[in-house]
Amino acid sequence: MKNRILIVNGPNLNLLGYREPSIYGTDTLESINNYISEEAKLLGIECDFFQSNCEGAIIDEIHRVRLSHKGIIINPAAYTHYSYAIRDAISAVMIPCIEVHLSNVHAREEFRSKSVIAPVCKGQIAGFGKYGYILALKGLSEMM
Ligand code: DQA
Repeated sequence: MKNRILIVNGPNLNLLGYREPSIYGTDTLESINNYISEEAKLLGIECDFFQSNCEGAIIDEIHRVRLSHKGIIINPAAYTHYSYAIRDAISAVMIPCIEVHLSNVHAREEFRSKSVIAPVCKGQIAGFGKYGYILALKGLSEMM
């Protein structure tokens, strides 16, 4: 099996570049994904990208890669704070997973500092903008 990983972005992240640029930056999701792909190549990792605004679609995608991918990087967006269903999907597939946030969720509204996903991940990276995905890639590549 090749070193394939899945990058998942949750609700409203399709609007990156347009959405609250003072918090999330001006890069679009497409340009961030291109940046991740380039860095991944250098590490010998192949990435698949998935974005959805729907909880069930994210869960289905996590299930789909359970035998084919060696890692998951997920920015669950607002689902971070309350989706027990996504948390259970990550536990179920037993693939190492890293949670990423563009913003420093711990320095914002109180509800954002709670993640129900982080306890089933290898770690959480927050506050480094798009570079957070690269940090996660490097972390995963050490584990693979
Ligand atoms: C986010 C932080 C979440 O609290 C928020 O709901 C998002 C984006 C981030 O990347 O900083 O949609 O996950």
